Amino acid sequence: MDYTILVTGSTGNVGSQVVKQLSSFKGKVLAAVQSKNRAEEVKNTGAELVEMNFNNTETISAAFKGIQALFLLTPFVPNMIEISDNLVEQAKKANVNHIVKQSAFGSDTEQGITMNRLHREVEKIIESSGINYTFLRPMSFMQNYLGLADSIKTQGWFSFPLGDSKTSFVDTRDIAAVAVQALTKSSEHRSKTYNLTGPEAISNYEIAETLSNIAGRKITYVDVSADDARKRMKNSGMQEWSVDSLMELFGFQKGSNASVVSPDVERVTGRKPISFVQFATDYAELFRPS
Ligand SMILES: NC(=O)c1ccc[n+]([C@@H]2O[C@H](COP(=O)([O-])OP(=O)(O)OC[C@H]3O[C@@H](n4cnc5c(N)ncnc54)[C@H](OP(=O)(O)O)[C@@H]3O)[C@@H](O)[C@H]2O)c1
Repeated sequence: MDYTILVTGSTGNVGSQVVKQLSSFKGKVLAAVQSKNRAEEVKNTGAELVEMNFNNTETISAAFKGIQALFLLTPFVPNMIEISDNLVEQAKKANVNHIVKQSAFGSDTEQGITMNRLHREVEKIIESSGINYTFLRPMSFMQNYLGLADSIKTQGWFSFPLGDSKTSFVDTRDIAAVAVQALTKSSEHRSKTYNLTGPEAISNYEIAETLSNIAGRKITYVDVSADDARKRMKNSGMQEWSVDSLMELFGFQKGSNASVVSPDVERVTGRKPISFVQFATDYAELFRPS
């Protein structure tokens, strides 16, 4: 029987890369999607699409039938613990052998910010489930800047309330590379927690300089106050809970923990993590004026 891996969040930043990098895996890969009609990119990876909604237990238990390994990624939402608790419960019922959970850097500090607190609660549920596990705790993604690419292209600047603080941003392709190792070599990676960062900590001033070089035009980082950042996010229609959580995250990024550089990507994959310059080069077209 084929070893079967199911990837949740397969249309997102990390999950899409996990599915892509599993394309040469000899067993079977199931990409869980909310709707087959909205999964064009995943369709070309060779993975089998399976419709599943985190809020519908029947779809979860049907999707988990016969799988051995699960990449568990949920969006960061207020009911993340309830959703994940149910996913783990269904994984137990389906006799899943190994869960690789996408968590977040800093989730070892139990009194930490909301994002870390919720991820740690989910990790504890998995620890007590009896299922083998690997926890991936990535730093902020380089790919978060892709979400700003359109406005950077039109206005030539981006802003954060982060001063000149440095963060060891990680490329989601590196998170996926570690996930693939853990999903396909369970015995080597069970009960392990990996802190996933890029090769260096960099400030938004350095990021603006890199993007300027790549785009061939001046791109400026504007350091805004916490109050300004909060107002902008509220005006853009973001929910209060999301705004509060992001402001906490900015506070974390301003602290010294976010500049920690971990050796874990290289330890697991055997190669250096992707640098921000490499990331920006690979996605250059998105930042260049059209
Ligand atoms: N961004 C960062 O810098 C960062 C850093 C560390 C940790 N994290 C953690 O990483 C996770 C987010 O990862 P990401 O950026 O890869 O996610 P993402 O791009 O936002 O994608 C979320 C995925 O979840 C799927 N999804 C949403 N609601 C669903 C539902 N009800 N049922 C089934 N699937 C559903 C989405 O499917 P659709 O496409 O169909 O909506 C999508 O595939 C969060 O847990 C966050 O805390 C993020």
